[in-house]
Amino acid sequence: MKSNDSGMRVNGSRLLEDLEKMKEKTETPGKGVTRFSYGAMDREARDYLRECAEAIGLFVKTDPVGNLFFGFPEDKDKPVILAGSHIDTVQNGGWLDGIYGTLSVLEALRRIREEKAECGKTIQLVVFAEEEGSNFGSTLTGSKFLTGKYGTKDLDSLKNQEGVSLGEILAKEGYSPYDSVMLLDWRRIQGMLELHIEQGPILESHGVGLGIVDRIYGMKVNEFTLTGVGNHAGASPMKGRQDALAAAAAGILEVERCGRELGEEEGVATVGRIQVLPNGSNVIPGQATFTVEVRSANEESIHAIMEEILLRMEEICNKRNIRCHYREVAFSKPDSMNPRMVALLEKTATRMGEPYLIMNSGAVHDACMLAPFVPTGMIFVPSIGGRSHVPQEDTRPEDLIRGADYLLAALLQLADCK
Ligand code: GLV
Ligand code: MN
Ligand code: MN
Repeated sequence: MKSNDSGMRVNGSRLLEDLEKMKEKTETPGKGVTRFSYGAMDREARDYLRECAEAIGLFVKTDPVGNLFFGFPEDKDKPVILAGSHIDTVQNGGWLDGIYGTLSVLEALRRIREEKAECGKTIQLVVFAEEEGSNFGSTLTGSKFLTGKYGTKDLDSLKNQEGVSLGEILAKEGYSPYDSVMLLDWRRIQGMLELHIEQGPILESHGVGLGIVDRIYGMKVNEFTLTGVGNHAGASPMKGRQDALAAAAAGILEVERCGRELGEEEGVATVGRIQVLPNGSNVIPGQATFTVEVRSANEESIHAIMEEILLRMEEICNKRNIRCHYREVAFSKPDSMNPRMVALLEKTATRMGEPYLIMNSGAVHDACMLAPFVPTGMIFVPSIGGRSHVPQEDTRPEDLIRGADYLLAALLQLADCK
């Protein structure tokens, strides 16, 4: 504890134990954490959170798309400060993305209970469903429903790789997605705070333990399907081929070029997923389907880069006699965190004697969806080697504990706790 601050602290070893337990809830042991929303490991993680919450007398509510809320039942008339993150991961992802922020809020609620802190507002833990978009290709799904960006029609149109819709999956899991309105009651909610690992190299390279996010990048994802003519790979001469994968390869290089040339050092463009049909070594590919993802802190820049990619892709397809079709899979605007929230976070760090950096987030977060509706803030801790969304994702234990202590201090401030 720093000498100029005598505030409440989290139980660091309990937080690290929780994180270790959650690390085991993976479909791919030894190969990173794979825990998609609505799958078996997600159910186990939810059960674990529920048990921990009930052990300290919290209420647990689940909304129709699987967003979870935990809070103090005795505070039902108080204004609410939301805090939380997500528990789902990408395929073979890391052990901290999302779950770190979620478990840190749970730990904060435990400490508030243990210390019998009296608060003017109540703090609720929110766990957003399907943040990563691992099932349906669209990130921030749970928070998009909570904020009204998604509604009933999206339950049918969001489909996983097997063509099963979100609505069908939710119904099978025992939710009632078509029954109720799922918007948050903004009149009661007075703030939102998310703690997360940085997922990039900036804090580490500056040797600073805390980041206060100023702006979160927006992102757009389009799915391209290039259709050529499948044929025998030996009997078909090179001349006249309509190879969908060769066209995709040329297009993908243009995606990288557009990110480099038009991104002005902050925009990025990525092809992260591709499927080839029929995917056989001795067949000329008849079809290639791939995602193009563009991100930037500047909305116009996102649209400009995607437009240019579209033009170049069409040009390549025309030259190669390939049909090019695309559809938008997801879009989220860049957004700024609330200046008063940033100021409160700065003051809290200063009071604790902790150096911090004001920074942008290249990763998207549910905080971004809530920002237009409620004063929202976001805190980062360093990622070792700046790595994330891979099994090597890691953060030093002292950085994890520092971030959780800082989150707790900020929440106590926000909720007027004594
Ligand atoms: C979420 O982690 C994202 O930025 O893709
Ligand atoms: Mn992630
Ligand atoms: Mn995340």
